[in-house]
Amino acid sequence: MAVPVIAIDGPTASGKGAIAHRVADALGWHYLDSGAIYRITALCAMREGIAADDAPGLAALAARLRPRFLAEQVFLGDEDVSLAIRAEAVGSMASRIAVHPALRQALLQRQRDFRQAPGLVADGRDMGSVVFADAPLKIFLTASAEIRAQRRYKQLIEKGFSANLPGLLADLKARDARDADRAAAPLKPAEDALLVDSSALTIDEVVQTVLWAWQQRMT
Ligand code: DC
Repeated sequence: MAVPVIAIDGPTASGKGAIAHRVADALGWHYLDSGAIYRITALCAMREGIAADDAPGLAALAARLRPRFLAEQVFLGDEDVSLAIRAEAVGSMASRIAVHPALRQALLQRQRDFRQAPGLVADGRDMGSVVFADAPLKIFLTASAEIRAQRRYKQLIEKGFSANLPGLLADLKARDARDADRAAAPLKPAEDALLVDSSALTIDEVVQTVLWAWQQRMT
């Protein structure tokens, strides 16, 4: 039997990361933050001066990078890049480079390698629609743009970054549009995904909803 996957997709700052992480902990499963893989590629492209429209250069970069995920941290070689990849500029570059099919292809197997027993909770944009299209449970998590901008603001301030709420909201809407309108693996719910609007729910409530949905699948 294939190793089970719970795919959690949704727009930026929808809370996917926190929720996927907690669901994985509750089940004792592995966790994949696929956005981190795009962000690492974006960070290196910025450092190496590879332009956002240089698809072959970006795909070659993605193929040679070997990020290591250790608990909550991400390493590139010996460098801990966990904090650096969370900067807004890196997230925005990640969204811009993610439009290239060649880059997405170069990252596909790297993401699938996380599928290991006893199970995987994977969060991103195309976990249910492309990367783990056979996942037995797919969740599409949404929340209003205003709520998501407030959550992102809080997160950035807590991490010690400076942030400006109106600017964040504008950037988040631009990123949503780019992620949803791109031709390659656009952000959209898989046909068989369960839609969950978290605007009025706490993280715990969403986690319980996902765990409940998983129990229903099992019975
Ligand atoms: O989830 P995040 O904000 O860390 O992701 C950053 C960007 O990476 C996002 O704007 C689009 C891209 N991405 C993607 O295209 N596919 C994924 N599965 C995950 C992220």
